[in-house]
Amino acid sequence: MHDRPDMWLQEALQALDERALRRQLVTYAQAGGVIEDSGQRWLNLGSNDYLNLARDERLRAAATEAIQAFGTGAGASRLVTGTLPLHETLETRLAEHKGYPAALSFGSGYMTNAGAIQALVGRGDQVFADRLIHASMIDAVQLSGARLHRFAHNEVQSLAEQLDRPASGRRLILTESVFSMDGDLAPLDEIVAVAKQYKAMLMVDEAHASGIYGPHGAGRIAAAKLQGDVTCGMGTLSKALGGYGGFVTCSSRMRDWLINKARAFIYTTAPPPASVAAAIAALDILAAEPDLGTKLLARARTFRDQLQVAGLNTLQSDSAIVPIVIGDNDAVLRVARRLHDQHMLVGAIRPPTVPTGTARLRCSITLAHTDADLTFAAECIQEACRQEGVL
Ligand SMILES: Cc1ncc(COP(=O)(O)O)c(C=O)c1O
Repeated sequence: MHDRPDMWLQEALQALDERALRRQLVTYAQAGGVIEDSGQRWLNLGSNDYLNLARDERLRAAATEAIQAFGTGAGASRLVTGTLPLHETLETRLAEHKGYPAALSFGSGYMTNAGAIQALVGRGDQVFADRLIHASMIDAVQLSGARLHRFAHNEVQSLAEQLDRPASGRRLILTESVFSMDGDLAPLDEIVAVAKQYKAMLMVDEAHASGIYGPHGAGRIAAAKLQGDVTCGMGTLSKALGGYGGFVTCSSRMRDWLINKARAFIYTTAPPPASVAAAIAALDILAAEPDLGTKLLARARTFRDQLQVAGLNTLQSDSAIVPIVIGDNDAVLRVARRLHDQHMLVGAIRPPTVPTGTARLRCSITLAHTDADLTFAAECIQEACRQEGVL
């Protein structure tokens, strides 16, 4: 009797194994685009530390100082006694940076999407989401109880057709500014026009755009001056900003609403002082060094061009995320293993993270990678694909 739970687990894990879909944790010596481990240099193309800030001295110093001043934990949720001056400062700075009237920070990007979406819609409401949006938004819609409609990836006509059907309740459109697994860009102007036409709210996830696009890395909403039309922006502190946490940028009224209704904000301890201080330090760096994102995108472009010339499929990628579609789950694992042998870490992304038949290597370029690193990586990837018969 006592081993029955173990039996179904064993069978379920074996089923994952059989489809080359079992995931396992691996421990790495460091975070970031380049890892030094026991005298060996590893090229890490699986890190979202785009601006190479996760180990930056200035962020470390700010985090250490915050720990000395405030301690290691906030000790309570934001609505009880967890709000520290650092939280207020971060939110004021994020709002200024993104060009919105207000901002609200959350424990992580996942929690931001969970909290904000669940506060904006509920049972009887309608959500229209790009087919490729991140799992955190899908989970959030399910949590909210709203009805989920999916539109074809980046196809505004498909969105308009769905909005055109009569439906009750509030309407919310969800998309990503830069898509996390394809690296392509949403047509924000066109989506805004449709949102206006159908009087729908629009939320844009800028997890992979924040810190990279637009003035001082303010993101694609700010670059296109769409703050007045995009109901709320979402960002994470965990990728280009090198730390941990998430945030929403919105109107002051919406911030008030989120404080009252976003369960992932209310029922959890406030973000710890070190993370908040590190994020403020990252914003200082973006203010002082406005060209970091441009530099990053240029490096990614060169890398992508090399792969495309060799005949590899990098989809419509136009960001620091460069996918290389292999198709088969086993083959992508074999290619990744060959790269590992060359001290190169590349994510082998398989379903359900991406659609069946589109298993891929997902390379994220960071400022820790030199041009020489990226040329070497592009050559190794081509060679590994050839050896595995997928090029
Ligand atoms: C598009 C997108 N949104 C949200 C998240 C969640 O952010 P976080 O890692 O800060 O929880 C991620 C990354 O994991 C993401 O890629």
